[in-house]
Amino acid sequence: MHRLDQLLASLGYSSRSEARDLLKAGLVTVKGEEASDPSLRAKASDVLFDGEPLDHPDGILIAFNKPLGVVCTRSSSEGQTIYEFLPEQWLRRNPEVSTVGRLDKDTEGLILLTDRGDLLHRLASPKGRVPKVYRVFVDKDLSDGLVGIFKGGTLLLEGEKDPCAPADFRILGPREAELILYEGRNRQVRRMFASQGYMVQSLKRERIGPLELGDIKPGEWRDLPLDYFDK
Ligand code: URA
Repeated sequence: MHRLDQLLASLGYSSRSEARDLLKAGLVTVKGEEASDPSLRAKASDVLFDGEPLDHPDGILIAFNKPLGVVCTRSSSEGQTIYEFLPEQWLRRNPEVSTVGRLDKDTEGLILLTDRGDLLHRLASPKGRVPKVYRVFVDKDLSDGLVGIFKGGTLLLEGEKDPCAPADFRILGPREAELILYEGRNRQVRRMFASQGYMVQSLKRERIGPLELGDIKPGEWRDLPLDYFDK
């Protein structure tokens, strides 16, 4: 049960003070009855706004296809941010919607966004060991020796004190490979290849755990049930 003014504000409909005006204007019903008292407590599922159920009352979890050139920070002088693709109302929600980890500006593909602290924590934690699958193109022909190096669990990247966790690695073509990471360090794929003398020329994240990028187009997203990763 939440106060109506708090509920509307936390779901990004308005500020808490503006919520009073929305309530006075008769836009909100609780169990079918018009409700104008901001302090009235109600279950989100009993509330309609302008005749519609509340937007994601229990939280947001989406799979987004990040286009190249877009950054994952909230504001940037470096170009478009991922948040510019989302409905404006979501940007006013509290807790705020944020990305689970980040992809570099020059990486495309699958990234999760959520406003649920529990999901953010669980999906970002290396303890969760959620596999992340990357398709990589490099600047010169790949050597079979990389398989053992990336799988070995002893590769130490510059400036890090712990070696990279064992990764799965498959060579798909002369300069094309699939790398599966079970942790997420800053620019990890690019740094792993750089440590072996390769430059990553294109990088795309295609899967996170059971979730495939599939037919989600760049700049678009798919709503996921909040328990999607529990299964
Ligand atoms: N590894 C990278 O180097 N960049 C990313 O965006 C993700 C993983």
